[in-house]
Amino acid sequence: MGANNKQALTLLLMSFAICLNNAQDSTTLVPAIIIFGDSAADVGNNNYILTLFKANYPPYGRDFVTHQPTGRFCNGKLVTDMTAHVLGFTTYPSAYLSPQASGKNLLIGANFASAGAGYDDKTSILNHAIPLPKQMQYYKEYQSKLEKVAGKQKAASILKDALYTLSAGTADFLQNYYFNPYLNKISTPRQYSSYLVRMFTRIVKELYGQGARRIGVTSLPALGCLPAIKTLFGFHKSGCISRINRDAQHLNKKMNSTATRLRKQLPGLKIAIFDVFQPMYDLVKSPSDHGFAVANRGCCGTGKVETTSFFCNPKLAGTCKNATEYVFWDSVHLSQAANQVLADSLIIQGINLLG
Ligand SMILES: *[C@@H]1O[C@H](CO)[C@@H](O)[C@H](O)[C@H]1NC(C)=O
Ligand SMILES: *[C@@H]1O[C@H](CO)[C@@H](O)[C@H](O)[C@H]1NC(C)=O
Repeated sequence: MGANNKQALTLLLMSFAICLNNAQDSTTLVPAIIIFGDSAADVGNNNYILTLFKANYPPYGRDFVTHQPTGRFCNGKLVTDMTAHVLGFTTYPSAYLSPQASGKNLLIGANFASAGAGYDDKTSILNHAIPLPKQMQYYKEYQSKLEKVAGKQKAASILKDALYTLSAGTADFLQNYYFNPYLNKISTPRQYSSYLVRMFTRIVKELYGQGARRIGVTSLPALGCLPAIKTLFGFHKSGCISRINRDAQHLNKKMNSTATRLRKQLPGLKIAIFDVFQPMYDLVKSPSDHGFAVANRGCCGTGKVETTSFFCNPKLAGTCKNATEYVFWDSVHLSQAANQVLADSLIIQGINLLG
């Protein structure tokens, strides 16, 4: 984002801040952030469950504020962390399963995301992740905890004005559909997309029923450009796998039109489908335009695909010196620097959620 853009954004955000501050006694643009989804947003829930999908070992977290692994699938901050900063928060909603998710910490929201979770519960179960319905159940538990901390009335206003975010769908294709001969046989990628969109609709309606009014949903990224996917499906050719990118774009289109329908059906609902496909595709296609040097493999491990998982195993190939030059941190997750590019784009796309 250029300097002018950033300046305009700051002005825009300030004008929202002035409006909202009348309604609440804080300096943040929304009272809380409530986060659902997968490894794009997990900040450590998977550390507390039995699953292989963990990022609680070095070098994950190497460039984070604390320089410690937290469970984030990144060298540093996630897009949701960056969004929290822009909205005026000085800290992040805690991973709900962590001991930090208690008392006053609950006032700024909570994070229920679990790496490996999908819209399809079978994906979550396969990955031993926390399925979205279970994340919703934790959310209901959170609501009653919040009431105890904030009082009934304040809790209700926090929950109504909070920003809700949802990221899922990647694991459904990456860890389920493409490698599941049975699913492949019974449904085409498009049919599977329709199923995922039905599950997505169900979750949004349930959130709405629970009082959520501002919901930001990330689209699928450019799956066909992930180093892991290029390694597994690319037959040693370079470039993104367009068939797989088309599947992702198809789901994104469907989610977008579903969101339009939901806005009409559910009065007062603000929902945005954030396009992460295009900004990520642009990064991979012309990394140097954005100050990156490497886009065909991740910084950590082999950065293509590890023998045991998509996540990095530094023992296999070490870790690059400077992750800022890499679009990808491991074979499926973006680096902090690339997350920043995405966050800048998302904040502009999401401005309507705040008004
Ligand atoms: C969703 O549709 C709108 C038009 O209704 C379009 O401007 C936007 O780019 C679309 N977003 C995605 C993620 O496809
Ligand atoms: C890492 O790379 C970035 C981008 O090329 C550069 O600005 C920065 O100075 C580098 N940091 C180190 C420690 O080399």
